[in-house]
Amino acid sequence: MTKNDIDHYAVIGNPIAHSKSPLIHTEFAKLTNQQLAYTAELVEIGQVESFIKSFSSHSGKGLNVTVPFKIDAFNLATELTERAQRAGAVNTLTLKHNKILGDTTDGTGLINDLIKNHHQIIKNRQILVVGAGGAVRGVLEPLLLESPASLIIVNRTASKAQQLANDFATFGNISACGFNDLDNKQFDLIINGTSASLSGDLPPLPDKIFSDNACAYDMMYAKEPTIFMQWAKEQGAKIILDGLGMLVEQAAESFYIWRGVRAETQNIIKKLRS
Ligand code: ATR
Repeated sequence: MTKNDIDHYAVIGNPIAHSKSPLIHTEFAKLTNQQLAYTAELVEIGQVESFIKSFSSHSGKGLNVTVPFKIDAFNLATELTERAQRAGAVNTLTLKHNKILGDTTDGTGLINDLIKNHHQIIKNRQILVVGAGGAVRGVLEPLLLESPASLIIVNRTASKAQQLANDFATFGNISACGFNDLDNKQFDLIINGTSASLSGDLPPLPDKIFSDNACAYDMMYAKEPTIFMQWAKEQGAKIILDGLGMLVEQAAESFYIWRGVRAETQNIIKKLRS
């Protein structure tokens, strides 16, 4: 079999060298006995469309899409799943018969990590989501489908939080507020969906915001606990998680979309941790 006969998948982004997706998908392929190649591809800004065309004509069957191309992928998809339409972004493209099918697996990744890997309960809980950018938009629908008692979005720019609350109102009890409105409120699960951890910043959350047995979840991950995770520890959060499990779970969902089989995720999560 020549290299060209093997189905090829890739993650595209800029930058991309840091991506763990090739490692994760290669492991999934091994675990499920699938013959495929998965690489990381650096794409120049403005070149996504021509890259997809060329990739597709060279055994390219699917792409994961990361920063800054999730909106490009959304616009270039010839068909979108409903969840991708509502998320307004795409992280998974399937290339089939000249069609580009767009989907998003970030939300499923978060839910699977919280519920399956960490046995967290969302139903009837008070949830706070911090941030109102693309990353948060992608996880609101699956969170609300788990029927929390309430889901509040708080964001530095309050109008963006309000917009999201309006957009997802049909899925459950969702509302928005500013950081100043959080005094004396407590939450069972606080998810940091801001990019603040990247720059070592902490969203201005008040003290005593975690209920007993609360969980703090940073959608980011790094070698060391993020500043949000360190703060959550000081504040007494019972369970403190980063986004590594979400990364692996969203990859597993993409793999399932492409190959129709579910790969076991625990070993690769452990491997990446170590
Ligand atoms: P992403 O696609 O990763 O969500 P984004 O759309 O640029 O990126 O959104 C970044 C989010 O992080 C926003 O909610 C942003 O708040 P604003 O809407 O007010 O810009 C939030 N954010 C970034 N840096 C922050 C900081 N230092 N403190 C609080 N929020 C921050």
